[in-house]
Amino acid sequence: MQPLTQIDRDAWRFINSVGILTVAVDGMLNAMSAEWCAPISLKPPLIGVFVGAERFTRELIERATAFGVSLLADDQAWIGRVCGRHSGRELDKIAQFNLPLEPALHISAPLIAGAAAQFECRVLDRRVYGSHMLVVGEPLRAVGNPDKRALAYSRGRFYRLGEEIELP
Ligand SMILES: Cc1cc2nc3c(=O)[nH]c(=O)nc-3n(C[C@H](O)[C@H](O)[C@H](O)COP(=O)(O)O)c2cc1C
Repeated sequence: MQPLTQIDRDAWRFINSVGILTVAVDGMLNAMSAEWCAPISLKPPLIGVFVGAERFTRELIERATAFGVSLLADDQAWIGRVCGRHSGRELDKIAQFNLPLEPALHISAPLIAGAAAQFECRVLDRRVYGSHMLVVGEPLRAVGNPDKRALAYSRGRFYRLGEEIELP
């Protein structure tokens, strides 16, 4: 049995949050939308983010020692769209779209202000899996905003989380 060369769109039912990956290196700063961003270990805490080969962010993260991840709130879908539709190779997304930033405490890249959660990570490891590079980060700081709900993303569309399913 040969493994698939691609996954059928109908099977693609993943539901993800939207992280904005911020990277500052060699005087350059960029922000990229990343739905493939997830916790990968509890003890020690580790965060993984997958960066596609053709992204400008890929060039930056290959050289960076740290990165920020801001999990967008459900009133920030516009940030997920602009940071996922435009490349830092062509324009300065931060200036062009007036992204709401705030400085991080332990890394040089800033974070998205008003996000549902923010992580400041030190790069622990990088490994390429096919089209994407898995970048593993050790959080130096992680904060959540209890007044915000995380934005959801699935099959190219943004959503607010719906009704909780109560189980007996
Ligand atoms: C909501 C959303 C989520 C995305 N998630 C990822 C992701 O997890 N990994 C990735 O490599 N690209 C992802 N993309 C695509 C990149 O964000 C997009 O190609 C972006 O323009 C790359 O920016 P850059 O060239 O400035 O790095 C996503 C796009 C959107 C709209």
